[in-house]
Amino acid sequence: MAGSEQLQAIRYRRGHLELLDQRKLPHETTYIDIKDAAAGWTAIQDMVVRGAPAIAIAAALALAVEVERLKPVSGNGLAAVNFLKNRLDYLVSSRPTAVNLADAATTLLKLSQKAADEGADAAAVYETYLEGAEKMLDADVASNKAIGAFGADALLQGSTASGNGMRVLTHCNTGSLATSAYGTALGVIRALHAQGKLETAICTETRPYNQGSRLTAFELVHDKIPAVLVADSAAASMKSLGRVDAVVVGADRIAANGDTANKIGTYSLAISAFHHGVPFYVAAPLTSIDTAIKSGEEIIIEQRSPKELTHAHGGQGTQIAANGVGVWNPAFDVTPARLITGIITDQGVITKAANSDVFDIPAFIAES
Ligand code: MRU
Repeated sequence: MAGSEQLQAIRYRRGHLELLDQRKLPHETTYIDIKDAAAGWTAIQDMVVRGAPAIAIAAALALAVEVERLKPVSGNGLAAVNFLKNRLDYLVSSRPTAVNLADAATTLLKLSQKAADEGADAAAVYETYLEGAEKMLDADVASNKAIGAFGADALLQGSTASGNGMRVLTHCNTGSLATSAYGTALGVIRALHAQGKLETAICTETRPYNQGSRLTAFELVHDKIPAVLVADSAAASMKSLGRVDAVVVGADRIAANGDTANKIGTYSLAISAFHHGVPFYVAAPLTSIDTAIKSGEEIIIEQRSPKELTHAHGGQGTQIAANGVGVWNPAFDVTPARLITGIITDQGVITKAANSDVFDIPAFIAES
């Protein structure tokens, strides 16, 4: 991919969806044609596309491509809604932890149901679905830009960094490859860089799937943002040496009290940040918040294939572990709210009341 080209995980025009095969990055830039919900499900499950917002948009658009072919078929609006519900339920089952996909499915189904209730026939219901899914792509970019702006302000306000700008550590990949463009936590880093207030982005490898070394490092180099790659296990030491001014990570699901599920390893980064007095922020759109759950205890954590640990390159490479060893490979962990300084959303930054260990997210949503 040429340096000047914008990184795009999702390429869409009506009737056509292509997903960048992120399993092949940073070596190869190959797009896969997605023709229906089944192909979308497999692409999400196999990590062709990953990252909570990107998964939601890719799923919605995979079904949009299928629906575009069905539009000429005449029929009853309610039958079309039933078809959409069935396909959306199936897509939601592809990866369980991130809430964005379930949230997108609920929104699109409600829109389609409303159209049918108002008398739309199947073609009109499908058109409503298509327009709703297409809007999500643009809305995500706007939401990421807002997160970037709010986040840069929040980090700078709490910063004691020198005149050279901030040194900000991030985990996993939350950039253009994990969203429709720009990114959430990486969007905050992009915004700081654009303002001339970033000394260095520090990205962790993010074992075992290496989203940090394969994807975030690639994005940072591509965008010429000064960056340092560290092993996950080096992050605590770096903080102890005073070389990290803030940590900002993404989220897959945030409970009503602020407990946050994100890529495995986030919890240990939060513990070491807390220990060394380094501000620790979560950056995510409001669609990553699940107010239906009170705390992180209710979040279902996806377990992934042992091969991601026993074999190099996310399970695609040479075997590196002894045959017969047991493996525990959770894709995510939950960071308790008490370790989180603030939650940067597209509607502003959520903070905790004085003397409280948790966030009151429903109150923030009601006011925003
Ligand atoms: O398993 P992945 O690569 O989908 O995990 C991604 C993360 O954990 C991200 O931090 C999260 O989805 C936010 S992406 C903006």
